[in-house]
This record gives sequence, C-alpha cells and structure tokens, in this order.
Amino acid sequence: MALRSTGLRERARERLIFALDVSTAREAGQLVRSLRDSVAMFKVGKQLFVREGPRIIEFVRERGGEVFLDLKFHDIPQTVARASVEATRLGVAMFNVHASGSSSMMREAVRQVRRACRTEHLRRPRMLAVTVLTSLSSTDLKTIGVQTPVADQVLRLALLASEAGMDGVVASPQEIGPIREACGPRFLIVTPGIRREGDDRGDQTRVTGPAEAVLSGADYVVVGRPIRDADNPREEAERIIDEIADALVLRRRG
Ligand code: C5P
Repeated sequence: MALRSTGLRERARERLIFALDVSTAREAGQLVRSLRDSVAMFKVGKQLFVREGPRIIEFVRERGGEVFLDLKFHDIPQTVARASVEATRLGVAMFNVHASGSSSMMREAVRQVRRACRTEHLRRPRMLAVTVLTSLSSTDLKTIGVQTPVADQVLRLALLASEAGMDGVVASPQEIGPIREACGPRFLIVTPGIRREGDDRGDQTRVTGPAEAVLSGADYVVVGRPIRDADNPREEAERIIDEIADALVLRRRG
C-alpha cells in the first residue's frame, strides 16, 4: 500500500510514542532533535527523570515534543493524587499509575487532577493505569499471593481502572482484545513491546509488529530500542508510521 494521504500519515504519527530511554538531557536532546518531525510524543521514564529531574519535561516540550511521563506511581491515595497533580502542572500529555494501588487510589488521583485542571486552568493529561507488568508471570503472582492467572488479573485491573475514571491502560499486545471488549471503544490502550520483522527483541519476549498492534485495537504504540538503535532513527520511525497508517486503513475497512 504505497499511497498514503498526508492526513492519514498525521493520524498515524500521533499514535507513535518514542521511549526516550537514555540517561542524560544531552542524549535526549539529540534524539528529540532528530525525531521531532516524525514523532509527536516522547516517553520519559524513571532513568531519565531521576537523572535530570522535572526540568527534562520542559526541555522536551520546548523542543517540540509532547511527554508521556512513565513513572508508574504506586502509593497511598493522597501521595499518588498529589504526585499526579504535580505531573499535571508540569504539562505532561500522559502519565501512569499502578492499578494495583487500588480503586480508591486511582479515584483520588482522578478527582484531584480534575480539580486542579478546573481551578488552575491546566490541560488535563490522559491518565493511564499499568495492570500487570509484562515481566511478571503467573508464578510470580502466586508468590505474592495472587492466585489469578495473569490474563484474568490484567482484565480485572483494567476494569477497575475504567470504573475509577482512568482514561486507559498500558497493555501488552496479547491483552488488547479482551481489554477492548471489556472496557469499550473509548478506553485508551497504549502498547509497548513493539518489534518489526527482523528486529532484535532485546528483553521483550511477547512482541508484536506496529501494524498488528494497531489492528488489534491499540490506540498508541510505544517503541524504544528499534528506533533509538537504528542506523537512521528518523527513517525507522517513518517506516513504523507507514505501517501504522496502513493498519489504520485496514482497521477502518474491517
Ligand atoms: O526498547 P523497547 O521498544 O522495548 O521499549 C519499550 C518501552 O516501554 C520501555 O521504555 C519499557 O520500559 C516500556 N514498557 C515495556 N513493557 C511494559 C511497560 C513499559 O516495555 N509492560
């Protein structure tokens, strides 16, 4: 499929999130500079945030990128709610918390973020929930006293997140279908673990191509190393955007 309209490519571009998994603002700056015409949103995780602090958010935004703050808050409801309000004040477009922190933790975070946005006229970020980390197996869950199989636990936590007013979840490609069915078409699904044919898998075991993820119903795909480590990161990002665009066409038809 070679003909892709500008509008279609723009819609596809909005669905790609690049994981800025580096430690310094200098490295991050180089990547943002070379990718900002291709990528609209950059994920800042614990590594970069702990090293550079909150100013890294402004740094990325000043260079033309939106930020998904991936700090996976998990604490008592007041602490998570207050951290969520601070993330909102930083101007991030998205951030996440652990759904296993409880329904009341998520509800309080949603309530306080909504209130801060109203009273301080802030943009409301998308609030995502992490269900079960993809590094955890059913055996790991059993050792911490959770007898439920991973897939059921993921679904249970996604529903809790949806009922608590969260905007969506971070989910592995395999989990998209059941979550979409249970939580409805407006619930956002953000999917990491994306590899194109022939890519090095790194430590990701359950991987899916960008097109497959979008066809299964993902709203956003998160890609890190395949772009960061490519000879030409920008070209790699553009190839992924093409695949997403083609998948969007098929999805509309299907
Ligand atoms: O380099 P790669 O494409 O595997 O990067 C994926 C990104 O998504 C990393 O920043 C990783 O921390 C994150 N992530 C993940 N699996 C999850 C949640 C987040 O790989 N379940």
